[in-house]
Amino acid sequence: MDLLQYQNDFLNYLESQKIVREPQNLYQPIDYILQLGGKRIRPILTLIAADIFSGDYTKALPTALAVEVFHNFTLVHDDIMDDAPLRRGKATVHEKWNLNTGILSGDAMLILAYQYFENYPPHIFQKLAKLFSKTALEVCDGQQLDIDFETRNDVSIEEYIEMIRLKTSVLVAAALKMGAIISEADEEQANHLYNYGLNLGIAFQLQDDYLDTYGDPKTFGKQVGGDIIENKKTYLYLKALEVASEEDKNTLVKLYNSEEQDNGAKVAAVTAIFNNNNITQHTQQLIEYYTNKSFESLSMLNISEKAKLGLRMFGENLMNRKV
Ligand code: IPE
Ligand code: IPE
Ligand code: MG
Ligand code: MG
Ligand code: MG
Repeated sequence: MDLLQYQNDFLNYLESQKIVREPQNLYQPIDYILQLGGKRIRPILTLIAADIFSGDYTKALPTALAVEVFHNFTLVHDDIMDDAPLRRGKATVHEKWNLNTGILSGDAMLILAYQYFENYPPHIFQKLAKLFSKTALEVCDGQQLDIDFETRNDVSIEEYIEMIRLKTSVLVAAALKMGAIISEADEEQANHLYNYGLNLGIAFQLQDDYLDTYGDPKTFGKQVGGDIIENKKTYLYLKALEVASEEDKNTLVKLYNSEEQDNGAKVAAVTAIFNNNNITQHTQQLIEYYTNKSFESLSMLNISEKAKLGLRMFGENLMNRKV
């Protein structure tokens, strides 16, 4: 499994599909966000899945691009909703341009994503579009829950896991299943791969939440502490409420419920409470739990041991990522 090869092929395809047309204020931001980099995890998973089931992964390139363009659309709108200044080490689209540009360029990206499916024959197109629509709507559900949770004080860990399954995991899972669909794999096999992606996606978002507080500001690429500033009910916060002393708990709840405050001081105070309560260890444990759970689906896959090992290593690498 040559991840670099997949990535290079994907980047070349992305370059070949570049849109340079008027109005510039619509298409430049799209080009900007897509060229900012990113790990390209989802399109790589689409190519891996297609490769595993047919050996010919190049026909999955349009779908890999659809998935990455959709992902980047969610990031543009997510950064508006999260009031985020930084993405991949650069200004977010709504900061560099403005709010309206962020909204409309995002909308156009969602439509572009669908257009890439026009490269496929009708029976494949239908399956891809159906899974994609279901997934995209689930992402919206998850994003709305994420926003709703900001102002709720009774969010459970179970609700949190369901929220991240929706906003993040289903796209990772669908990226894999779409690769399997293009290679016309068995439905059952495709679903095992989907379930691998679901659990991996949950581990991935847990790690994202962890890095939001503990990432290195020099390399992380996003504003460290952004989730704390926005009162996000992440696992770090919810677990702290479960294990901390009454005093720490009360302080946390107060910090997450007062409007006017110094963001730097808030991030420092919340992080100190996380540190006091071994939240890093608790979070790492849950990341490991979901990563291992994802590996259980691999044993049910009827693919080569080499391919299984490749998917396992992919999961293990995600667990140790720093960005
Ligand atoms: C960020 O996704 C948004 C989440 C769902 C956690 P990534 O961490 O994959 O972002 P890029 O594409 O690599 O920048
Ligand atoms: C993002 O979750 C999920 C989607 C974009 C759908 P976050 O809000 O945690 O993602 P980042 O941290 O901004 O990348
Ligand atoms: Mg965000
Ligand atoms: Mg968000
Ligand atoms: Mg995040």
